[in-house]
Amino acid sequence: MTTPVAVIVDAAAYAQAVEDAVKASAAYYEGGTSVLDDDSYDRLVRGIAAWEAAHPEQVLSRSPTGKVAGGAVEGDVPHTVAMLSLDNVFSPEEFTAWTTSLARRIGHDVTRFSVEPKLDGLAIAARYTRGRLTRLITRGDGTAGEDVSHAAGTIEGLPAELAEPVTVEVRGEVLMTTAQFEHANQVRTAHGGAPFANPRGASAGTLRARERAYTVPMTFFGYGLLPLADTGAPLTDRLGDLAHSGLMTLAAEYGVNTTATTAVPGITADTVEEVMARVKEIAALRAELPFGIDGIVIKADLAADQRTAGSGSRAPRWAIAYKLPAVEKITRLLDVEWNVGRTGIIAPRAVLEPVEIDGATITYATLHNPGDITRRDLRLGDHVMVHRAGDVIPRVEAPVAHLRTGTEQPIVFPQDCPRCGAGIDTSEQRWRCANGRNCHLVAALSYAAGRDQLDIEGLGHTRVVQLVDARLVTDLAGLFALTREQLLSLERMGETSTDNLLAAIGAAKDQPLSRVLCALGVRGTGRSMSRRIARHFATMDNIRTADAEAMRQVEGIGTEKAPSIVTELAELAPLIDKLVAAGVNMTEPGATPPAPAATDAAHDTREAADTPAEAAGGPLAGMTVVVTGAMTGSLDKLSRNQMNELIERAGGRSSSSVSKKTTLVVAGDGAGSKRAKAETLGIRLATPGEFATLVADYLG
Ligand code: IVH
Repeated sequence: MTTPVAVIVDAAAYAQAVEDAVKASAAYYEGGTSVLDDDSYDRLVRGIAAWEAAHPEQVLSRSPTGKVAGGAVEGDVPHTVAMLSLDNVFSPEEFTAWTTSLARRIGHDVTRFSVEPKLDGLAIAARYTRGRLTRLITRGDGTAGEDVSHAAGTIEGLPAELAEPVTVEVRGEVLMTTAQFEHANQVRTAHGGAPFANPRGASAGTLRARERAYTVPMTFFGYGLLPLADTGAPLTDRLGDLAHSGLMTLAAEYGVNTTATTAVPGITADTVEEVMARVKEIAALRAELPFGIDGIVIKADLAADQRTAGSGSRAPRWAIAYKLPAVEKITRLLDVEWNVGRTGIIAPRAVLEPVEIDGATITYATLHNPGDITRRDLRLGDHVMVHRAGDVIPRVEAPVAHLRTGTEQPIVFPQDCPRCGAGIDTSEQRWRCANGRNCHLVAALSYAAGRDQLDIEGLGHTRVVQLVDARLVTDLAGLFALTREQLLSLERMGETSTDNLLAAIGAAKDQPLSRVLCALGVRGTGRSMSRRIARHFATMDNIRTADAEAMRQVEGIGTEKAPSIVTELAELAPLIDKLVAAGVNMTEPGATPPAPAATDAAHDTREAADTPAEAAGGPLAGMTVVVTGAMTGSLDKLSRNQMNELIERAGGRSSSSVSKKTTLVVAGDGAGSKRAKAETLGIRLATPGEFATLVADYLG
């Protein structure tokens, strides 16, 4: 994908573009927050470069195209070796062209590349003298940078002392992980400061700030290691001959954090095809990473190749950045909507001036909860940084505070439920309508009737609206009391549809407890948690008599969740009673109830002996299985939830994310990041067909 170029029509527009770029770049490096998002900046600089190519005699000296890092702040510590930037490619074709020109330059094809994520932070050089961290320097203009040694203690991954007494310079990127960024903005706004728009801006501002009343942690990832002159340390002499991959191993041995600790470790690849496959893998994992990346850096791995290729004034010829599409854009916050969900939670949603991010037009973004809005100090009319990666719901990262004009308005929080006008329970982070799940009965019933819950065919959203509007149903139990006459009285309800719907409602009474529990919509418990609770307790009676301590024995329920689930179930007691009276099944087939009066010790042993794996002893016993992509063959009709139910019936544990604990990944057509991660971690993969054979006895 090629970033489009800003079109510059004449010399005046060119001069303006140069000014804009210089201003944006200065704000980014000095103030810590950009006025242009990355994509707009790239477009602008490409436009400037295009115009300069056609008018070489009119190039302005301030143009960002000739400078390292687009015009950095000059510092006073000279770099021993220039800290260069990287040239970019945007497509496989551009990448292949780069490898061809590199091969021409060095006289042969590169036989080993290193491929690593391009970390989205700030370049920094950390000097170690005989193993002790002595100086931290920013890149500055590439030849000299600013001394930021004051930040040393706040950067995780950059130890004060190395494992060996070597005199070296470690180069790498300082950034904030998503969690560090959230924390930094909380602390900053609590101290009356304006929030940073994104993690990179936050790192830039934090790194340069000297007299703050608070410190916030950042993270370092090393991507370079060079010897520093020190007669007392002959150890470092050998660095010059090591390949890049070898240097990274050494840096890690010294105790420096590198990408090796992440889900996207640097690897070596022997061919262009292997490089491209890795580029795809890293791109697929991007949305799940706990830190920002804006591309993939590909380097000739061998020191000899690097030496022969050499460097230009701006960038080395032996490395290239394969840029990924921007995931962040600045747009305006036009409004905040408050929507009530099926459990009565009132959730704020940002209405944005439409903005295109990686091919999708974004108009809405999540704002989590009211406390989050306050913490971020968001106002209507603000320019906001919006983040969207992969299929994750877009989120407003923060306001771009220095773009404020003074006309922004406070966001008004609702006093009453925006749906039914009842009071609001604000005692928890997430606000809730005082009518709870009765507030949005249509949503609650539609969810309960859904395919993964009671699976009542013919009870879609429109039908539920009719039932609720006609007051034929006032809660979930009401569905089971519906009569033929009542249904026939509804518009567009013929005899056949009525009989079919009644049959479907009747059949729903026999659903396993796990699905009934899920249909109730206990907050904090989705499908898989409902299954775990149902299997653990086996009957609704057992669930209802469980106190928080007993609830905590269920895998995945911690000390925080346990009491809230118990409270919620107590709140649901009258409804559960009605369901029991209506004849709804309240047991989980195949599950055995826990031994009474479980203590922690008893629980520890039971957990080992009583997982569904052991209980069922099926072909997946002891395995943690993740399903991804489209299922085919005999699994074709199964929803993801049904696949998970099948896994658990066959003795395994289902999970939605791939981790080191995963034992098997069932990867169907179109599998993306999860398959890539499984390959990276060396986890066994199965096609839907292979899996179907494995669990054949448990199908259907
Ligand atoms: S190598 C001489 N490797 O990207 C080679 N840089 O846009 C210079 N960056 O200035 C850098 N991740 O600040 C390298 N794995 C990585 C990187 C990386 C992020 C940054 C670095 C560089 C900038 C260029």
